[in-house]
Amino acid sequence: MAALSGIRTTELPAGEAVPVLGQGTWAMGEDARKCKDEVAALRLGIDLGMTLIDTAEMYANGGAEQVVGEAIAGRRAEVFLVSKVLPENASSRGTIAACERSLQRLGTDAIDLYLLHWRGSVPLAQTIEAFETLMKDGKIRHWGVSNLDIDDMVELVALPGGDACQTNQLLYNPTRRGIEWDLLPWSLKHSMTVMAYSPIEQGRMLRNPALLPIAARHDATPAQIVLAWVMRTDGIIAIPKASTLAHVKENRAALDVRLTDDDLAALDAAFPPPKAPKSLEML
Ligand SMILES: NC(=O)c1ccc[n+]([C@@H]2O[C@H](COP(=O)([O-])OP(=O)(O)OC[C@H]3O[C@@H](n4cnc5c(N)ncnc54)[C@H](OP(=O)(O)O)[C@@H]3O)[C@@H](O)[C@H]2O)c1
Repeated sequence: MAALSGIRTTELPAGEAVPVLGQGTWAMGEDARKCKDEVAALRLGIDLGMTLIDTAEMYANGGAEQVVGEAIAGRRAEVFLVSKVLPENASSRGTIAACERSLQRLGTDAIDLYLLHWRGSVPLAQTIEAFETLMKDGKIRHWGVSNLDIDDMVELVALPGGDACQTNQLLYNPTRRGIEWDLLPWSLKHSMTVMAYSPIEQGRMLRNPALLPIAARHDATPAQIVLAWVMRTDGIIAIPKASTLAHVKENRAALDVRLTDDDLAALDAAFPPPKAPKSLEML
């Protein structure tokens, strides 16, 4: 792994380095009174090297993209911007129109990585065609998908142009290990990055008693242990969402936590890896 502004990076299939720790934005932009704090949190995250920002047209009906637009104003070049098109918009024409609306809200000319949010009824080939047009027109730099299970991924990469997919954004944390059975190994074998969403299970797992002794050993918090665990494998990018400055700083420091074999064994005991295939979980 290389270093970029002091932060560990991984390479997209296209060869571009991106930070292994980014910032999520789900639920940002929902409450106008909170937007100032959300913008400040994202800006601090950029200052600390968490320059990959994940958003979507779905979040707060475009409100999250507006918050991101405000946060990156004047510093667009520092940021690797990820957004997503809803499946119902993902037709050849609909994808292009959705992207143009997102660009407007984000206040930028191009999205670095544009994802299909999940698979709907539009044939994947149509969405790929639209992504290719958007790339040709300079409106997106790369494309990828989210919430696609292994059979969908096999189908996707076999389609014309499908092998240009850069990532599959998936639910992954110690309580959601189903992808370790086949989708994660398949992805890493195909040099496809996996972007782990809800990496701290939206906070629900942080009180698990198994995390406490490990956190104490590292003088860390349970959230830092969980993030370090998610990012333990090259090719996985964690995108925690934090709208408070303290959480942003805490998450950044998770990159300094080095889990030992004993820690990993204790985490396996508390949160066992899958013993059989499981259909893909989504939030
Ligand atoms: N592709 C998809 O279908 C999909 C689905 C879900 C999420 N996502 C993306 O992934 C991102 C992350 O997932 P998520 O937002 O669902 O959940 P998450 O990142 O696992 O958890 C976010 C929650 O944890 C809190 N938090 C953050 N850092 C913390 C820390 N160090 N200690 C304690 N609590 C902490 C946040 O609080 P504060 O905000 O108060 O700081 C927020 O309530 C999303 O924001 C979105 O960009 C994608």
